[in-house]
Amino acid sequence: MANKVPHNLLDQEFYLPPDQFFTAHRTVGLTYDDVTLATLYSEILPRDTNLQSKLAEGLELNIPIVSADMDTVTESGMAIGMALNGGLGLIHYNMTEQEQAKQVARVKHHVHGLIQDPVTVTPDQLIGDVLTLVEQRHFQFRTFPVVDKEQKLLGLLPGHGVKPRHAKHKVSEILTPRSQVQTIQKKELGRDPIQRADRFFSENPGCDKLLVVDAEDRLCGLFTISDIERIIHEKNAQFKPARDSHWRLLCGAAVSATRDAFGEIDRKRVVNHIGFLVDRGVDVVAISTAHGFSKGVGQAVSLIRQAFPKLPIIAGNVTSGAGVEFLAEAGANIIKVGQGPGSICTTRLVAGVGTPQMTALYLCANAARKKGVTLLADGGITKSGDIVKALTLAQGVMCGGLLAGCLEAPGEVIEISGKLYKQYRGMGSMAAMKAGSAARYGHAQDTVRKVAAEGIEALKESTGPVTRTLTQLIGGIQSSLGYLGAANLTELQQKARYIRVSPAGMREAGPHDVVEVKARNVAGQAE
Ligand code: XMP
Repeated sequence: MANKVPHNLLDQEFYLPPDQFFTAHRTVGLTYDDVTLATLYSEILPRDTNLQSKLAEGLELNIPIVSADMDTVTESGMAIGMALNGGLGLIHYNMTEQEQAKQVARVKHHVHGLIQDPVTVTPDQLIGDVLTLVEQRHFQFRTFPVVDKEQKLLGLLPGHGVKPRHAKHKVSEILTPRSQVQTIQKKELGRDPIQRADRFFSENPGCDKLLVVDAEDRLCGLFTISDIERIIHEKNAQFKPARDSHWRLLCGAAVSATRDAFGEIDRKRVVNHIGFLVDRGVDVVAISTAHGFSKGVGQAVSLIRQAFPKLPIIAGNVTSGAGVEFLAEAGANIIKVGQGPGSICTTRLVAGVGTPQMTALYLCANAARKKGVTLLADGGITKSGDIVKALTLAQGVMCGGLLAGCLEAPGEVIEISGKLYKQYRGMGSMAAMKAGSAARYGHAQDTVRKVAAEGIEALKESTGPVTRTLTQLIGGIQSSLGYLGAANLTELQQKARYIRVSPAGMREAGPHDVVEVKARNVAGQAE
């Protein structure tokens, strides 16, 4: 340990804490690339840093990243991926309320490692048909549970029986009968199904599949030893899944501030919709609108607060301290900051409004501290360095574009000229508004055709599993904490010192005057 860490007075005049820095720049709106953070004396190694963030009572994340409630970003697959990595996904609402509740239930019931809908075969099928299925769907496995029409377990078709020489035989002639198949009752899985399955495989050498059944002996799932071994290995990872007090993955959902025929917030419909989500175990709801500092959003938040006193509420979007105070007083716990910074947004161009993110976050952070609420920096994040800058003033970030290329985002991978892409569109784009998000931009569903869109339809390069993207982003955040000598996100906020970057300084920040031979990943890092 160093004996004495020197303090340099000139440094202190250049590298300023937030109040001094943003007040000195009060006539200009600053965003992520306009500022950089001063490096400080450090005894902290990046790998030892902690990225936990408490967004509200009962809503604690292990990484401060939330996937956006957009119809090309978050459905159950993305929400599961986010929560497994320690973050949170907000399921969008461009779908029926029943479908959204089903998606929430899927996340809440997700058992990591348990294949919940295993591919099954029936006893009267021919082995030849099973071989065709394997070929057509490119299955890497050949062992299948055998069930009847009611999903009751009849046995297991072993992989060694699924061979062309047996093509003419029926599954019933080859299957291992029910009495010899190892199973476990669903209710016996307990709080830690992985540990239970791991114990089973240790106690039953030679067994590599464990089938899960309910009280009526209907098939509910399947564990394989290879999945369990991989997960046990991952369990030692630093960032644990984000779970509720019942060990289920965290999940959020967006709700619309729907209006009735008289233009008033439709109380009954909003409360029913949220009641439905709460029954499925939703941990937080979000009222996401383009203009959160407005009467209708305030009314919607207060009615949700009255009907669900303990439910964490995310509300927004705002870019002023007054906007934060308004939503906090209405009952929101987490306020989203950002009007027009998003990669697919055109609000600033169309409406001529909105404030660059760092200035907006500074103004909002002061009010949030006073009101005891937290902030999510929403939109405009393109690399891990942006996340760290946002976290100097907010408790989390919301990402759309950074995650829209991941496999878990809704939609198919599209191939164009040999490159793989996924669709990404603004919720204020004409197509998304027609699909349901018009209210978010203050328009009625049936008049969408006549209004100005505030978002575009675009493509993102396909970036593989969300775990890969998050690992890169987390690595960047941890490096930054190491540079600032901050062990966690609270220390990051205490230690952050800013300096303005000139356009030439910005050019200097990226690779320059070289020909890059390796692509950079989503976090802006060389791969
Ligand atoms: P990124 O930059 O992560 O931004 O792609 C995602 C955020 O952008 C907001 N959003 C929109 N803003 N018009 C807008 O002005 C739109 O059509 C639109 N769609 C999404 C939203 O806050 C999201 O989280």
